[in-house]
Amino acid sequence: MMSEEFSQVINAELPIGVFDSGVGGLTVVHAMRQALPHEDIVYLGDTARTPYGTKSPNTIVRFSCEDTQFLLQHHVKAVVVGCSTVSAWALSFLEKRFPVPVFGVILPGVRAALEQTRNQRIGVIGTSATVRSMAYTRSIVAHCERARVFECGCRLLVPLVEEGWMKHRATRMILRTYLAPLRRHRIDTLLLACTHFPLLKDAIRQVIGNRIALVDCAETCARFARERLEQMELLSRQRRRPGVIQAFVTDEAERFTKLAQRFLGEPIRTALEVELTPM
Ligand code: DGL
Repeated sequence: MMSEEFSQVINAELPIGVFDSGVGGLTVVHAMRQALPHEDIVYLGDTARTPYGTKSPNTIVRFSCEDTQFLLQHHVKAVVVGCSTVSAWALSFLEKRFPVPVFGVILPGVRAALEQTRNQRIGVIGTSATVRSMAYTRSIVAHCERARVFECGCRLLVPLVEEGWMKHRATRMILRTYLAPLRRHRIDTLLLACTHFPLLKDAIRQVIGNRIALVDCAETCARFARERLEQMELLSRQRRRPGVIQAFVTDEAERFTKLAQRFLGEPIRTALEVELTPM
């Protein structure tokens, strides 16, 4: 049931909303810049309450409702959940609660992993909350019964990415520890099931070598969003200029803006600090 308080008319020229607990969703924005170069984007990073991946399902649902509500107040035509943890626990709730299309990262990543794998042995790394939800295992097995899925919760990785320690020796050491059991399970495909993790792709490659295919949940999500918006005739038809990004955060706007420019490889307007309305 859609709530009337949010009823709004959507049209193709409105921006797309993207949210995450912090900087992780920027990997999705980065991929959207390639897949959807003319779309304006409103981004919300809930930096005051990051990480979400160590929180309980109820809290994750509540935070993600507040995030989505904020984006709707900025008149977005669709919401991309740039966060696996939220996609795992709250996507179906958000789809029912809000009157715009909502896209998550799980299904696109699962489809791509199943296209890549040859031995149907797939590793999944995500936050503790994502792994606890078993959402990836359920979705993979629903699409391919004989697939074997090995999930691993990597709770130290999000803070390392937020700290900008992508190339740090400590990060490689921690990755080696997390990934060793997955290698022993002879996976041939590794799904990066947290939007912070594409930022660790080079470090992960160094640790696991070139023989395991990596599936980047940000890239697959951006392609999926384009596909769905196209089907819904919600891609901008009038805009010729490159899309504009406006970012909002709930804390540390300056730090976020600097990180964002680094992650996106382009300057963005300074992020604005906002307070979210409790729901
Ligand atoms: N980047 C997010 C995810 O994909 C959230 C990480 C976190 O806040 O714990 O799960």
